[in-house]
Amino acid sequence: MKIVVCVGSNCTMMGADSIIASLENLKETILKKEGVNPVFDLDIEIARCLGECKIKKAVSPVVVVDGVIYHNASREEIMSVVLDAAFDNILTK
Ligand code: FES
Repeated sequence: MKIVVCVGSNCTMMGADSIIASLENLKETILKKEGVNPVFDLDIEIARCLGECKIKKAVSPVVVVDGVIYHNASREEIMSVVLDAAFDNILTK
């Protein structure tokens, strides 16, 4: 799973850093634990302004998860998407 978190000024002011911290924490503390999902890979990237805030107002923070754009992304929403994908991957194995 590839996640791109925008760290442009608008997104950073609206909490992008806490999303990144939570994703990194999730990756290190849960997803790498034995028995959780050894094949699930979480690729976290940061990007400068993704341009979404130039098109529409009040969309920050912006996070892209496997090509799906989340406006006004919350930590909880992104964690939920990642965990659902991680555990779905287990159930389909
Ligand atoms: S600063 Fe994040 S989309 Fe522009």
